[in-house]
Amino acid sequence: MKELKISPFEKEITEGLMAPQKKLSSKYFYDEEGDRLFQEIMKLKEYYLPEAELEILKEKAAAIAEDLSCKSLDILELGAGDGSKSVFFLENLIRLGKEVKYVPLDISENILRINKQNMAERLPEMEIEPHTGDYFQTMKVMGDQLNTKLVMFMGSNIGNYKEAAAIEFLRLIYENLHFGDYFMMGVDLRKNPKTILAAYNDSKGVTKAFNLNLLKRINRELGADFDLDSFDHYPFYDPVSGTTFSYLVSLKNQTVHFESGTQIPFKKNELIHTEVSKKYSLKEIEGLGRQAGFSFVSHHLDARDYFSVSLFQKSSNSSNGH
Ligand code: AVI
Repeated sequence: MKELKISPFEKEITEGLMAPQKKLSSKYFYDEEGDRLFQEIMKLKEYYLPEAELEILKEKAAAIAEDLSCKSLDILELGAGDGSKSVFFLENLIRLGKEVKYVPLDISENILRINKQNMAERLPEMEIEPHTGDYFQTMKVMGDQLNTKLVMFMGSNIGNYKEAAAIEFLRLIYENLHFGDYFMMGVDLRKNPKTILAAYNDSKGVTKAFNLNLLKRINRELGADFDLDSFDHYPFYDPVSGTTFSYLVSLKNQTVHFESGTQIPFKKNELIHTEVSKKYSLKEIEGLGRQAGFSFVSHHLDARDYFSVSLFQKSSNSSNGH
């Protein structure tokens, strides 16, 4: 009998779609079109996160610098992207007298090339050492740095993990650091539920296209026949847990076929869960860091209290989470 070879991607996708609550992982949002749509989302007024974070990196750099008790720093940024926000922070740190080496880490070699160009334009003197790979591959680079490290994890990327997984991820960072090293993350805060919902339900429909692009990707890469017009996007913010849940909704009874022969039936109004975007209170952020082993240092907020850049340290007297 001919054995059918199913890729790990197809296995994960079809298992998710055959589960009692259908789901697709948000990590698959980011193909070329997904990257482009996410860039577009970041320019939307309703998607307030990047503007709030940038404000903090510009306006609160001096306060953050004061909390970093060393002159020379190796700054590693997980999922650094094009560095267009971090460049302002680095510029400020250098202006305030810090000696900085910047180590941007990202899965995309292309975006790291753009990052390096952006940095070279504004900070030609700064040493820069990009590394390509996923979070887990690039995290290993942390052990190679000689100076005190500051690991940055920005953009509220932590929010796309469920809380237990978020703690596990932060613990992994903690384990790759030395005592005295710092960890800084950008986190979207709990706020008026309507403001949060609007960020995931934008009026131009870019976030809808971003979610539907998952189905487009599956069609292209796995030879499936999702009819995009037969699915809608439904985001829902639960202010009790502080979580935005994003779904795709099947608009009719339908069956989707894959090239491999797999068939997935959908009932009318059946949901596919695509993403969680968790929002935190300051207390919850402190709890996250502490449970991973870190000592809390400080929060730095924008003028509207929408977003926090929160600083932690791996200190020898921290609880280590136990
Ligand atoms: C990447 N991440 C922090 C974004 C978020 O806000 O959860 C992804 C996103 N999803 C919809 N809009 C933006």
